[in-house]
Amino acid sequence: MPDSLIDLRSDTVTRPTPGMREAMATAEVGDDVYGEDPTVTALEAEVAALFGHEAALFAPSGSMANQIALQLVVPPAHELLCDADAHVVTYEIGAAAAYGGISSRTWPAVGADIDPDVVAAMVRPDGYFAVPTRAIAVEQTHNRGGGGVIPLATLRELRRVADEAQLALHCDGARIWHAHVADGVPLIEYGRLFDTMSVCLSKGLGAPVGSLVVGSAEKIERARLIRKRMGGGMRQVGILAAAGRYALAHHVERLAEDHAKAARLAEAVAPFGVLATPARTNIVPLDLTKSPLDAHALAAAARDEGLLISVLGPRTARLVTHMDVDDAAVDRAVDILTRVLRR
Ligand SMILES: Cc1ncc(COP(=O)(O)O)c(C=O)c1O
Repeated sequence: MPDSLIDLRSDTVTRPTPGMREAMATAEVGDDVYGEDPTVTALEAEVAALFGHEAALFAPSGSMANQIALQLVVPPAHELLCDADAHVVTYEIGAAAAYGGISSRTWPAVGADIDPDVVAAMVRPDGYFAVPTRAIAVEQTHNRGGGGVIPLATLRELRRVADEAQLALHCDGARIWHAHVADGVPLIEYGRLFDTMSVCLSKGLGAPVGSLVVGSAEKIERARLIRKRMGGGMRQVGILAAAGRYALAHHVERLAEDHAKAARLAEAVAPFGVLATPARTNIVPLDLTKSPLDAHALAAAARDEGLLISVLGPRTARLVTHMDVDDAAVDRAVDILTRVLRR
């Protein structure tokens, strides 16, 4: 990817900084399948503590971390409830069904604006005539929901719904760091609401690889087995855990800068009537239903000018800010977008 291109497709495109590479190069390592990699063990303990849980498990990707967690809380032939736009049912290639035998049922996509009463009404009890519900999954922040942040009060209500129906509550927290920075909710406050979480180091935090499953010691022991079964046992992976530890130490609070850059982009495109919802975090969701350009046409025109954006649907697109786009790049992106949208 030439450096002259501004890449706003995703926050997964970041490259490790020199400091992060140095931490990786000097990491102490061992064979983590034997439980002997001290850097991985330290990362797992650190992340568990951040969320106030007993344990955590390093996984190669956010998708695997989610799927391990879902297998922990939903037995085969039982049901998961989530929203229709959730990453776990949109981009994980049917893994819950394929690997966990899990049946998924969705509430209509509303991003972060979840109505807990709607979720409560969907719960199906044990019995021989319907698939029993076992867990609810939410996404914080919500990727296809424009980086929206589920309010703490809504999460507390969902916890109540889960408790009343004896369900587990899972959080796909790939970007929980962004929610923490945007709403000022302590990570530990989020942690206490969920039975299982997946949290990602390779989105906004800028590590090249890595997510963690977070939960009780008993769950994480089972998670280790599921990870191995899925082919996710890794050896001298402290090299990657070191990048994650570096990211946690240096790249969480700076997410506020990415949110400010997203706000600038949102402000620039708003007069063209294409801003789907206000940018709450680092994602700017575009709704092109009233624009002469559809999403592919906008992406092609922007690319010709040196700007990459993501197409999510025929008339939906997305801009995502991250560590590798500085203020000067945002200035250029604003210039390109306003020129293209004005045509
Ligand atoms: C909300 C959310 N969850 C999970 C994932 C999966 O992460 P990975 O690409 O590491 O599998 C992503 C990836 O973008 C995501 O946006």
